[in-house]
Amino acid sequence: MGRLRTLTRRQLVLVAGAAVLCAAVAGTALTGHFGAALTVLGVFFAGLLAGLLLIARRLTGLATAHRKAQQDVRTILEQTQRRVLGAVEELLLNAGDRHRELTDKLAAQQKSAAHGTDHLLRAQTREIEGLFQLFQDFTARAPMPSSGGFALNPTDLLGLLHLVRTRKPRLVLELGSGTSTVWMAYVLQQTGGKLVSLDHETGYAQKTREALEQHGLTDVAEVRDAPLRPVVLDGRTFPWYDVDACADLTDVDLLVIDGPPEKTGPDARYPAMRVLESRLADRATILFDDANRAAEQAALLKWVETIEGLTQEGEALGRHAVLSYDRLRSRNPACSTASR
Ligand SMILES: C[S@@+](CC[C@H](N)C(=O)[O-])C[C@H]1O[C@@H](n2cnc3c(N)ncnc32)[C@H](O)[C@@H]1O
Repeated sequence: MGRLRTLTRRQLVLVAGAAVLCAAVAGTALTGHFGAALTVLGVFFAGLLAGLLLIARRLTGLATAHRKAQQDVRTILEQTQRRVLGAVEELLLNAGDRHRELTDKLAAQQKSAAHGTDHLLRAQTREIEGLFQLFQDFTARAPMPSSGGFALNPTDLLGLLHLVRTRKPRLVLELGSGTSTVWMAYVLQQTGGKLVSLDHETGYAQKTREALEQHGLTDVAEVRDAPLRPVVLDGRTFPWYDVDACADLTDVDLLVIDGPPEKTGPDARYPAMRVLESRLADRATILFDDANRAAEQAALLKWVETIEGLTQEGEALGRHAVLSYDRLRSRNPACSTASR
């Protein structure tokens, strides 16, 4: 009975039909109607055969569907496998490329670090040699202010002092005071020249003045306050030293351009030669510090292009460039060639 409850309606109808046919066979046989019993039995077996055929057909259909489902699953599995393999391969390739890239970068950085260290070592050696030469046969009357950093490097100081010793300027004008002011004043005390140094920072101007006093150099050098004021050149405005601070100066035969600092504005030092050309002696020397920087390079090129009689001298030892100015040549090239 329990099993009967699990049957579907169609199965119940079939079971009931089979039971009716069995009852009909039994009834007809028991009542002596063997012909009828045989007919019903025939119908029963025909129905049974039809049912078996139906079941066989269904089973074949199910087997086909099962095979197809298996095939589909296999196809999906193969596709997934291919995709995963492809992704892993790509990952490995990318990792390989990245690894190569990183190795190359590392090698380049190691090379550049080695190059940088080498460069630094060579520069330091040069500066140490410069320091030895600076202090050779020189006794300062007080501790010397430090070189390098904000001030000229020993090699640049050496170049500057060599110019002062060999060209013996009568009047030096320096833009930007500091250590170089003290060193130049010592040499000028021997060669008999004078130095005026302009500074836009009153605090540093005072500091240099105090250093000059400590070293007993106030008779040779003076520091003037020259706050930055707008100077208009070719339609451009530059913050540059107050020109009144050097209004009384003429015949400057050595101009040292080491200010204003670049932080005061773009092309901070460009106005120097344009403003001061008229204050130079007929023949003058210009030492231009930090000439290796882009803005200073551009200023230097423009000066040489636009100021007649101005030429750059040889190769620089340190960071500075040396220029010479010849007013006579600028007015009469033939006369200058003859006088040389
Ligand atoms: C390039 S530095 C000039 C340095 C100077 N020609 C020398 O070689 O010592 C430009 C400016 O630095 C400032 N300065 C001077 N002494 C300084 C110091 N001890 N520390 C920092 N800046 C200083 C001044 O205002 C100066 O105009």
